[in-house]
Amino acid sequence: MTVADAARVPCDPDLPLSVRLRTGTRADHEAAERSAFVEHLLSGALTRDAYVDLAVQQHAVYTALEEVGDALLATTPDASAVVLEDLRRLPSIEDDLAFLLGADWPARARVLPATARYAAHLREHATTLPRWVAHAYTRYLGDLSGGQVVHRMMQRHYGLGEQGLSFYRFAAAPRVTPFKDEYRDRLDALPLTEEQRREVVDEARRAFALNRGVFADLGAVHHP
Ligand code: HEM
Repeated sequence: MTVADAARVPCDPDLPLSVRLRTGTRADHEAAERSAFVEHLLSGALTRDAYVDLAVQQHAVYTALEEVGDALLATTPDASAVVLEDLRRLPSIEDDLAFLLGADWPARARVLPATARYAAHLREHATTLPRWVAHAYTRYLGDLSGGQVVHRMMQRHYGLGEQGLSFYRFAAAPRVTPFKDEYRDRLDALPLTEEQRREVVDEARRAFALNRGVFADLGAVHHP
């Protein structure tokens, strides 16, 4: 595929939404994966505190994402295809934080400015199905994919066992690949107009940018 073809794919109405999402966010994914904080964290150059701080930021993001998802379920019948109990992360992150920081973790959790912006964006702008789906795709498929690498590296480098890392364990494990395929099928089957599909890809790119912002803030705290 040429660069020009790749640029057209996210707009090709004949392609399934999941393909347009993957292609349309490819460059954003590479940038997120290569962000300095992620590279330092995965290589073992940081400390366990950096992972704990990441978990705190994820807590703030998932609180907003899942709150908005639950509200959508109540108003939009089509949302039930993609707002899934098997994906819900908030209870796992809360267990992890209680283990990592202690029972008083809410008092010790510091939400960084980029995280606050991300959560505010979710509450203000991700309240329709196309927009919410874009954020759900970016986070959940990411956690089901690269998240599995993060899980292994946190165990290897920072002495964490299963406790503290339950965020990365999904009910679908070890059948994560078929589960991701099924989720993509669900995205593809959503009754969205062409305009809404384009909106999903645009919003997913925004979701990646918001994640990069969180990594930049984490990097400023945890490495020079
Ligand atoms: C920590 C570093 C990361 C690594 C090593 C990584 C690795 C991967 C890999 C190997 C896949 C392909 C999985 C497959 O085809 O089944 C993938 C997919 C994905 N990742 Fe990442 N990733 C990382 C960070 C991120 C971040 C920060 C995000 C967004 C917040 C993200 C979002 C996604 C999404 C949405 C997909 C699904 C792509 C698709 O098939 O449509 N990843 N990642």
